[in-house]
Amino acid sequence: MKERVVKGSLFFIVAVVLVSLFSGFAVATEATQFGEYSADGFTYESRCRQCHAIIYGEWEGTMHFNAYLDPFYLEEVKVASADTEGLVDEFCSRCHTPIGVVSGEIPPIDGSEMSDISKLGVQCDFCHVVSGSNGTGNAPFTVTPGDTKWGPFDDSKSAYHDSEYLELYTQSEYCGMCHEVIHPVNGLVIDDTYPTWKNSQYAEDNVICQDCHMTEGITEFKANPGRAGSGAPKREHISSHDIVGANAFIPVMFGAENVADMAIERLQNAATLEITVPEIAASGEEVTIEAAITNSGAGHNIPTGVSEIRQIWLEVMVTDSEGEELYSAGTLDTNGNIESAKIIYNNVLGDNSGNATDSFWLADRVLEDNRIGPKETVIEEHTFILPDDIVYPLKVETNLNYRSAPQYTIDHLFGEGMYEVPVISMNEASNTIYDPAMPPEDRKESTPGFSIFAACMAFILMMYIFK
Ligand code: HEC
Ligand code: HEC
Ligand code: HEC
Ligand code: HEC
Ligand code: HEC
Repeated sequence: MKERVVKGSLFFIVAVVLVSLFSGFAVATEATQFGEYSADGFTYESRCRQCHAIIYGEWEGTMHFNAYLDPFYLEEVKVASADTEGLVDEFCSRCHTPIGVVSGEIPPIDGSEMSDISKLGVQCDFCHVVSGSNGTGNAPFTVTPGDTKWGPFDDSKSAYHDSEYLELYTQSEYCGMCHEVIHPVNGLVIDDTYPTWKNSQYAEDNVICQDCHMTEGITEFKANPGRAGSGAPKREHISSHDIVGANAFIPVMFGAENVADMAIERLQNAATLEITVPEIAASGEEVTIEAAITNSGAGHNIPTGVSEIRQIWLEVMVTDSEGEELYSAGTLDTNGNIESAKIIYNNVLGDNSGNATDSFWLADRVLEDNRIGPKETVIEEHTFILPDDIVYPLKVETNLNYRSAPQYTIDHLFGEGMYEVPVISMNEASNTIYDPAMPPEDRKESTPGFSIFAACMAFILMMYIFK
C-alpha cells in the first residue's frame, strides 16, 4: 500500500511535468490533488434534482452519468491496472470518477474504499464546483466543493447555493480538461478530441463543444429557451445536459434507450456518403465503385475519443435483379466481426515493440490513422470484375457503419454471447448499373419512392376537392 502511494506520487510528478510541457496553456490555477477533499464535501445529485429536475433528467443515463459504472470502463481499467502494476490507477480514475480521486478513495482501483457519491461518474456537484483549471488535457481541474456553484450566468440567484460566473464553462477548454488524454509517461496524445477541434475551422468560427453537444442543435448552436431551475427566470437559452456522443451501446445497459436514440440521431448527422458507379457495365468488365465520405457534422475526427477501439467502415453490396450477390465488402461474419472491409476508419496504436495494441496505456506510437477530419472528404474505391450470367439491372448498395467496439473485444472481456455491440448505419447510398444493350432512354428505374409520393399527393388533392 505504502509503496503504491510513493510510486503514485512520483508518477504524478512526471505526469504534471508532461502535462505542462504538452498542454501549452498558461498556468491558471493549480490542479486539485489526490485526496485533497473528503467525499462528504460534495452534494448528491438528488439534492440538485429538487430544483433542477429537467437538467437532472437530461443528464441521467448519459455517458457522464455512466463514466465510472460503465462496465466496459471497469473491465478495461482492471486490465490497465494489472498491466502497469497499479501505476495508472489514479490517472484513469481522475476523469472517470473525479470525486473518487480528489477525495482520496481511489486507488485502490477495486473500488473497495469508494463512497456512493464517488461512483456517480461525472456529475452535477463535480462539474459545478470546478472553480478553475490549469489548461487542458489529463484533467487539470481545480475544484472547490461547498456552497458556491460555478456556471455560465453572471446574474444567477438561488436560495440554496451561491452562484458564480466562470467564463471557462462557456468555452471548449472546459471539456478539453478531460477530452484530451495524454499518455502520462511517454506523452503520446491518445484522445485528441480537444486538440483536433482547436485546429479546425470550427474553432476559427467559434463553434464550441457546447454549441453542438449542449444545445438543441447537433452540428451547430440552436437555442433551447426555458428555465434553469424551479423559480428561475425564463431565459433565451439554457444548456441541455443530455451531452451525447456516439455511444448507443452502454446507455442501454442502464435503461437509457433515449440516450442511445440521441446518439444514433447524432451519428446520422455526422457524415455524408455519395457513390459513383458506371451507368452501364458488361459481364467480364472491371467495375469501380467510388464512395466519397465527408465528415460534415462533427467538430473533430470521426470517430474520436478512444478511436482506436471505435469502428467506422463502409459496407458494399452488389446484387443482380434476382438477388444474386456479385460483390460484397464490410459485411459481418457469423461471429459479428467485419469481413473484408477496405478501410476501417479509426486509428491503430502501437506498443514499444511496434506491435498494434488496443491497450492505449501500453501505446507509445501511432501506427495508422484513418480517421476523417472535420469537413474532410475521403474517397474509397471498390473494384471487381462483373461475372457472367447476371440479370440486369444491378443494384449497388452502400452503408456507412459505426460501432463502439469490435465484437471480439467485447467477447474477450465479457465472454462470448454476453453483449452484442450494436451496428449503427450513419448513412446509406445506392445506385444502379444497367445492361449496355439497353437503350439509354429506358435506363430509368421506376422509383417506388416517387409513386408513393404521387399517390399521397393525389389522395390529399382528392380529400381537398371533396371537402
Ligand atoms: C460535464 C460537466 C457537467 C455536468 C455533469 C453537469 N453540468 Fe451543468 N453545466 C455544465 C456546463 C459546461 C454548463 C454551461 C454550458 C454553456 O453555457 O454553454 C452548465 C450549465 C448549467 C446550469 C446553468 C443553466 C444552463 O443550463 O445553462 C445549471 C443550472 C446546471 N448546469 C446544473 C447542473 C445540474 C443540476 C447537473 C446534474 C444533474 C449538471 N449541471 C451536470 C457542465 C456540466
Ligand atoms: C432550492 C433550489 C435549488 C437547489 C437545491 C439547487 N439549485 Fe442550482 N439554482 C437554483 C436556481 C433557482 C438557480 C438560478 C437559475 C437562473 O439563474 O436562471 C440555480 C442556478 C444554478 C447554477 C447556475 C450558476 C451560474 O452562475 O451560472 C448552477 C451551476 C447550479 N444551480 C447548480 C446546482 C447544483 C450542482 C446543485 C446541487 C448541488 C444545485 N444547483 C441545487 C436552484 C437550486
Ligand atoms: C460541429 C458540431 C460539433 C462540435 C463543435 C463538437 N462535436 Fe463532438 N460530436 C459531434 C457529432 C455530430 C458527433 C457524432 C459523430 C462522432 O462520433 O464523431 C460527435 C461525437 C462526439 C463524441 C463521441 C465520439 C465517438 O466517435 O465515439 C465525443 C466524445 C465528442 N463528440 C466530444 C466533443 C468535444 C469534447 C468537443 C469540443 C472539443 C466536441 N465534441 C465538438 C458534433 C460536434
Ligand atoms: C471530468 C472530466 C470530464 C469533463 C469536464 C467533460 N467530460 Fe465528457 N466524458 C468524460 C468521460 C470520462 C466520458 C466517458 C465515459 C465512458 O465512456 O465511460 C465522457 C463522455 C462524453 C461524451 C459521450 C461520448 C460517447 O461516446 O457517446 C460526450 C459527447 C462528452 N463527454 C462531451 C463532453 C463535453 C461537450 C464536455 C464539456 C461541456 C465534457 N464532455 C466535459 C469526462 C469528462
Ligand atoms: C483525461 C481524461 C481521461 C483519462 C485520464 C482516461 N480517460 Fe477513459 N475516457 C475519457 C473520455 C473523455 C472518454 C470518452 C471518449 C469517447 O467516447 O470516445 C473515455 C472513454 C473510455 C473508454 C470507453 C468506454 C466506452 O464505453 O466506450 C474506456 C474503456 C476508457 N476510457 C478507459 C480508460 C482507462 C483504462 C484509462 C487509464 C489508462 C482511462 N480511460 C483514462 C477520459 C479519460
